[in-house]
This record gives sequence, C-alpha cells and structure tokens, in this order.
Amino acid sequence: MPSHDVLIIGAGLAGQRAALAAAEGGATVAIMSKVHPVRSHSVAAAGGINAAINVADDWRSHAYDTVKGSDFLGDQDAIEIMCSEAPAEVMHLEHIGVAFHRNATGELDLRAFGGASMNRTAYVADITGQAILHVLYEQLMKHAHAIDRFEEWFTTSLVVEDGRVAGVVARDVRSGAMELFAAKNVILASGGAGQCFEPTTNGLICTGDGIALAYRIGAPLMDMEMVQYHPTCLPENGFLITEGARGEGAHLLNGDGERFMEKYAPNKLELASRDVVSRAEQTEINEGRGAGPRRDGIYLDITVVPRKRTLEALREIVNIGKDFAGVDITREPILIRPGQHYVMGGVKTDVNGRTPIPGLYAAGEVACVSVHGGNRLGANSLLDTLIFGRRAGEHAAARAASTRMPSPSRAYVRADESMIERIIRRPKEGARRVSEIKHELGTTMNEHVAVFRDEPGLRTALAVVHRLKAEAAVAYIDDRGTVFNQDVLAAIELGFMLDCAEAMVTAALERKESRGAQFRVDFPQRNDAQWLKHIDISRNGDGAPLVSYSAVTFTQWQPEERKY
Ligand code: FUM
Repeated sequence: MPSHDVLIIGAGLAGQRAALAAAEGGATVAIMSKVHPVRSHSVAAAGGINAAINVADDWRSHAYDTVKGSDFLGDQDAIEIMCSEAPAEVMHLEHIGVAFHRNATGELDLRAFGGASMNRTAYVADITGQAILHVLYEQLMKHAHAIDRFEEWFTTSLVVEDGRVAGVVARDVRSGAMELFAAKNVILASGGAGQCFEPTTNGLICTGDGIALAYRIGAPLMDMEMVQYHPTCLPENGFLITEGARGEGAHLLNGDGERFMEKYAPNKLELASRDVVSRAEQTEINEGRGAGPRRDGIYLDITVVPRKRTLEALREIVNIGKDFAGVDITREPILIRPGQHYVMGGVKTDVNGRTPIPGLYAAGEVACVSVHGGNRLGANSLLDTLIFGRRAGEHAAARAASTRMPSPSRAYVRADESMIERIIRRPKEGARRVSEIKHELGTTMNEHVAVFRDEPGLRTALAVVHRLKAEAAVAYIDDRGTVFNQDVLAAIELGFMLDCAEAMVTAALERKESRGAQFRVDFPQRNDAQWLKHIDISRNGDGAPLVSYSAVTFTQWQPEERKY
C-alpha cells in the first residue's frame, strides 16, 4: 500500500504549493488529481494576483480592502496573514520563473482590480493562473525524488481510523483499479463546487469533491451560502471575460447605452466589488434596461482600451470573444451577464489549513479559512491558494514528524469497489440519467440561489435538491467498462454536488439578511446585530445538514457601511 507523510488531493495551485512546501519541510509527499495537473481549474483565474508590492502601498490597505470586500464577514486574523505574506509569495513566484508583466521601467506592473484602493494586481496578460500553474508543475518535476504524482486518480473516500484521517481510497481513471493510500496527513486542495450551477465559469471538474468528502466524515463547512457571481460572463456558456478588462478601463453599458455603474458605485464605477457590480447589472436587466436582442445582458465595452494594449494584455479574451461569441472585442462591445464563478464557503479551517479532524487539512477554494467572507475580491483567489496551500503543506510536514504511519484496513477499498459495482449495475427502467439530474440541479441553483434570493425560491431549490438526491441514488449510467469510465465518476460527482448544493441552500435560507453575495430581497438590509457571524453546517447522524454558528474574528477593522 502506498504510504506518505502528506497526501494532497488536487493538483491546482493550492495542491502544488502545498506539495512543494511539504517536500521542503522534509516530508514524503504524494499529490493526486483526477486530471493532469496543468488542466486544473486554477488556469481560469485569469486577471492576476494581488500583493501590496508597490512602494506606495501597504499590506494593511490590501487587508482593509479585503475585509470591506468580504462585507465584514472575513476573519481578520487570516486576512492579515494572507495580505502581509503576499509580497514575498509573489516575489517567490517571480524567482522560480513566472514571467509577470513589467512596466516601462522594468518593475512588475500592477493593474487595477475590483474593490482595491490602488493598483496591486500582478499579472501575466490574462493567463495568470495558467502561467503560475505551469511554473509550479516544473517545480514539482524538479522535486520528483520527494513528490510522487498520481495523475488521473479519482478519490472516492477519505479513510478515518481512531478518530483521525488515515488515508484515502482512490480509483485509477485509466484502468479502473481501486487502491488504498495510507497517509499521516491528507490535504484537500480539490477546488470548488461551481458545477452545482449552470452555466458557470468553472471547469467540469469543479464538482465539490473535497467539500463533500470532508463533510461526509464530519468536518464542518462554513459560509456555504456565499456564492460569487462574476459580473462579466458570456450569457450562453458562462465563459469568463476577465475582470482585467475593467481593470484596463472597459465600461459597462445598459441597453440604453448608459454607463449605469455611476448610479450604484459612483466612486469605483465598474471596479466596485463583484457582488455590487453583479447586483447592479441584474437590477438593470430586471428593470427592463438590459442590452442585446432579448435585453437580458449588459454590454462590456473594451473598445475604450487602446487596441494595442488589449492585444497585449487581454489577448486570451480577444480569442474567447472571437471563438465563443463571434465578437472582435477590440472593435465592438460584447454582451455579458453575471455568472456563477466562485464559492466563498468550504471546509472550515484554521490559518494553517487544519480542520477539526486530526490529520485533515484543506486549502484553496475547497476551504473556508475565511479570507473572503461574504464576497471575494478579484485576484485574491490565486493568492489564497498559494498562501494557505503553503501553510497547510508546512504544517502537515511538521505534524508528520511526530505522527505514526497509519495502517488502514483494506475493507475501505472493498466498500468503495462495491459502491461502484452497484452504480454500474443500476437498471435503466424508471431511472434518470446522471447528466439530466446534473442539468436540473444547475439550472435550479442558477434560478433560485443566484444574485437575488428569497425564501420561496430557496425553499423551491431545497425541495428540488432533496428530490434529486433520491433520483441520483438510482440514476443510471451507460458505460459499464473500466477504462476511462467517466460515467461512473460523474455519478459519484453528482452525489458530491448534491451535498454541496444542500449545504448552500440550507445556509442561504438560514441567513435572514443581505451581506456580500447573499442578497435576500425579503431581508434587504445587512443586520450586524443578529447576523455578523459565520454559519457552519455539519452532517447529522441521518445525513442531513445541521446548522450552528461561529464568531467572526476581528483584529483592526470594525464593521462600517460599505460604499464604493
Ligand atoms: O476575472 C478574473 O480574472 C478572475 C479572477 C479571479 O477570480 O480572481
């Protein structure tokens, strides 16, 4: 049985950074991913990474912007760590080979981004996540003697023995073989759950696996009601048009050609925080001032940015515009609308990535530390993955030194083999296809758990999720083989997504106020007296979500009215 001090599930930026830190800490490390690492969803964080590296900037200003962006729900101790460690982390990336854009005098260039009080976003054109991911992967290969890579391995369950995590069961996607992996520590770095929504900017792999795996063994989830809608996505397929476009100066126009952000955020305009801009766009659409043939979109006008600059600094969205919308963004506005992009909530951790279950860590979008609170600032996600991925890797490596290697029973593998066998044998008669159920889940969540929410809509969503859970338990698949059987994985992922969706809707119903990305039309005010607290969701004995609360950590910044 493969045994490692630190086993990391997920090989995006959080996972790769954790692996490097754990290896540097002297641990034996394995990193496992259901896809090839450079296909991880971190590639989609396009516009840049925030760090107060300008001499006129200060990490406290970055931290305050983040606290304000979170609508005061973020934990300020974690935010202070993230922002104060950001400059060194970005310089580390630069030193290992990330070719950040430089200005005319040869310094790292910094672009404007939403919710930031000054330019502090370092970038590689509009492929920043992709550029960092490739450089970190080179580093993983450099450390091949210390880091075992299990690429295209799908984790089916976390193994718990004697109250602590003892490893995982996983399936080799290529062959269908099941294996038990022993580990002193497991770090979940498997990303978010955007596929609970349709459309979404998220890759097909973002199915909430780590969130559900942790939840199923008793780890609490936190802030699950906080789901971010990014203001600029292609209406039909959810493709992301980077916030970098607005950072470079692009305007948002309604169907009457009006630059409507003047009404909603007179100081920051298009560069208010994402929750504010998405709500403004949706309000314009709902009140009949939308753009496009059906008046259900908004125009993003990038033609105001000099063409040479767009071709240099926004070249990926030049291609996306042409290939997926038939629009040359350097010559005409492109129709966009808010689309699901990010889940602020996740597995509750401390600032070292630890969950309450000994040996289980989480970092990146799968986790909730909580640096984003009610709303994440653009370009803070890459930062979150790297800072807390590194910290989790370092902490787990240190813990490994004083922990004995577990020896979990092979009964765990047999249990998951039987679970998969049962999925493969499910009869077609009277059952629905997995993909149909996923589609209904995504469209329901996008209708009722989106920019604006209310109790009737959330209750409808919860009822649908409960019915879909029952249907998913008998849903059928077509592929009965072993080699690259994506059908069987989709059936397991559907179960993960339904657990995540149930937690999101339960928490959104619970929070009877409007804060950050959660806007309840039936409770339109922020209510600090009653709701300045985290909502935690645990799984009770019957498998249903159990709600509790935990305190928000304050250090320097007291809640105030949030205006942009
Ligand atoms: O718009 C963007 O480039 C997305 C970045 C992010 O979510 O951090």
